[in-house]
Order: sequence, then C-alpha cells, then structure tokens
Amino acid sequence: MQPPVRITITGAAGSIGYAIAFRIAAGDMLGKEQPVILQFLEVTPALDRLKGIVMELNDCAFPLLKDIIATDNPAIAFKDCNYALLVGARPRAAGMERKDLLAANGAIFAQQGKALNEYASRDVKVVVVGNPANTNALIAQRAAPNLHPTQFTAMTRLDHNRALTQLAKKIGVHTADIKNMIIWGNHSSTQYPDLSHAKIGHEFAKDLLDNTWIKEKFIPTVQQRGGEIIKYRGASSAASAASAIIDHMRDWTLGTAKGDWVSMGIPSDGSYGIEPGIIYSYPVTCKNGQYEIVQNLTIDEDGYHRMRLSEKELREEHAEVAHYFL
Ligand code: NAD
Ligand code: LMR
Repeated sequence: MQPPVRITITGAAGSIGYAIAFRIAAGDMLGKEQPVILQFLEVTPALDRLKGIVMELNDCAFPLLKDIIATDNPAIAFKDCNYALLVGARPRAAGMERKDLLAANGAIFAQQGKALNEYASRDVKVVVVGNPANTNALIAQRAAPNLHPTQFTAMTRLDHNRALTQLAKKIGVHTADIKNMIIWGNHSSTQYPDLSHAKIGHEFAKDLLDNTWIKEKFIPTVQQRGGEIIKYRGASSAASAASAIIDHMRDWTLGTAKGDWVSMGIPSDGSYGIEPGIIYSYPVTCKNGQYEIVQNLTIDEDGYHRMRLSEKELREEHAEVAHYFL
C-alpha cells in the first residue's frame, strides 16, 4: 500500500459533496491501491450536516479511508492537500445563466486560492466545479502566486461526457466506442461541443451524421443540458457532476487512454488563437500527472467562430471580476 494522499472537498455537505465522497473513499478516483484522507470544508451552519456525512462514511468501513477532517477553517481543510476539489458555491436556479453567479461566488474562490497558496502541498492539483467554473478557477489561480498556474483547472468533463452520450445514442454505439470528442471554451451555453474529430473505430462520426443534426440538435443539447436538468430535477446535476470530477482527476493523475483525449478547462496559452489569461476548455492528453493540449487539429470556419464566441464571453467574465486581480 502507498502512503495516503490528502483530498480536500469544499461544499462537502452539499449535493455534489454527498455524491462524491463515498466514491472517492471506495477508490473510484485514484484506484484501489491508493489510501486517502478526506479533508472537508464547509460553512459554519453546515457543520452539523457534515458531521452526519462523516458518521456515514465511517459506517462504511472503507479499507482505503484513513482519516476524515471536517472543518469550517480553510487553513485546516487545505493543509498539505494533494488534490483540491473546489465544489462549494451557490448553484443557479431555473432561468439563470451560470455567469449570474459570479457576484455571489467569486469571493469564495479568491479566499480559497489564497488558502491553497499558503497551506496546500506544492504538488496540489485543483479542479474548480463551483460555477461559473472557468472564471472561478481563474480567480483562485490568480490568488495563488506561489503555485504554478497550470495546477488550476476547471471542469468541463461533464459536458464532454454529455457529448459522448448524445453521439452514442444517435449512432447506436456505446460511449466507450467513441474517441476524440472535444468541448472548447467556457462551461456555459457558449461552449462548443465539437464532434468533428470524434471517431468510432476508424470511421469519423461526422461522416455518419447529417450536418443539420449536429448544428440543430447535438450542439444545443449539450450546451443546454445543465439547464434542462434543473428544469426537470428542480436542482442542478449532482451525481453526474460528481462522476465527471472523478473522471477529470483520475485521468489527470493516472493518464488518458491511448489514442484518446479528454476536455479540461486549463490556462489558455495561445493555442488555437485563444489569447492567454483565461481558463479555456481544450482537448488534452495526460501523462505522468501532467496535461498537454492536443495540437494541430483542423478547425472549420464555423467551429473557429464558435470558439472565439466562448473566448469573448470568458473575457467579459474576466473584466467583471478584474477587481480580484489587482
Ligand atoms: P449545493 O448547494 O447542494 O452545495 C453547495 C455546498 O457548498 C453547500 O453545502 C454550502 O454550504 C457549501 N458552501 C458554500 N460556500 C462555501 C464556502 N465558502 N466554503 C465551503 N463550502 C461552501 O450545490 P451543489 O449542487 O453541490 O453544486 C455546487 C456548485 O457546483 C454550484 O456552483 C453548481 O452550479 C456547480 N456545478 C458545476 C458543474 C460543472 O460541470 N462545472 C456541475 C454541477 C454543479
Ligand atoms: C451543469 O452543467 O449541470 C452545472 O453547471 C449546473 C448548472 O448550473 O447547469
């Protein structure tokens, strides 16, 4: 057995927190050989709820779960953590866009970025889930000058998984049969779900599809899926979000499958003409705990336009939170 790693989960008493903690403790994220210590951060009024979850986790007698810390103090929650899952934030209600949450949630990520900077292990991998995820990740990153900017990512894996499912159902294959899906841009309705490189075996998926379905059904369905779930469920996605966080962290840490890639919101570096200074979703491969943008993909004119539109939205969000970067 390896020594345990420390995993901080913020908002651990919330819906996603409840859906993810048990799966991580069971070894779904880092494998069945990797012991874990869970470090939960919540706001003070949620500490009783959190205590109940800790009791349940203990009652599972998970072999990999070595300790649990539950606190409302970021200095304790982020102490020496190797993984930080920044989930705790307000979710949107029906009729809202995710960026409407910026005013309510931005400050949380400024405070937590600062705490990560001070207390986290120097190798910490951070994924921001609380919405609007890309810009909150940027706020946290900029509050942590002693960590490397690439240690901060935003989650677009749920969108990636949603895109795989829509395509698989349309063609009549399993999601596992599809490779090379892409989500470009923001985790918002301007994201660009791009199946133009997706392959089923040796065949390009787009050659099996009619362009009208791609533009009028596939892209809008993936872009609007979060809102649709809120409409039917009365609350935003939770178990599917938890599952996507596990996928994001597992692949970042243990590597992507041969011949495939995944989508991650990462600091833009000028690739594909997206100027540095925002957190943008790209196709990436992961190896040895590092991610790398897949380069030299051909983008058609419509795709490039969509990518720029999402970049523009992220720059507007950036301008709205510029006071955090002073
Ligand atoms: P929730 O309301 O059920 O839980 C949020 C929890 O965060 C609550 O328990 C709350 O007390 C806690 N919290 C609030 N402020 C905190 C702080 N400063 N420190 C620690 N904890 C804090 O919400 P949820 O359904 O778990 O969703 C959480 C966030 O994730 C929302 O912003 C939601 O929009 C977002 N989300 C993102 C994705 C994605 O794909 N990126 C998917 C689903 C949900
Ligand atoms: C999602 O995509 O399900 C989440 O971002 C929640 C939301 O507000 O849509």
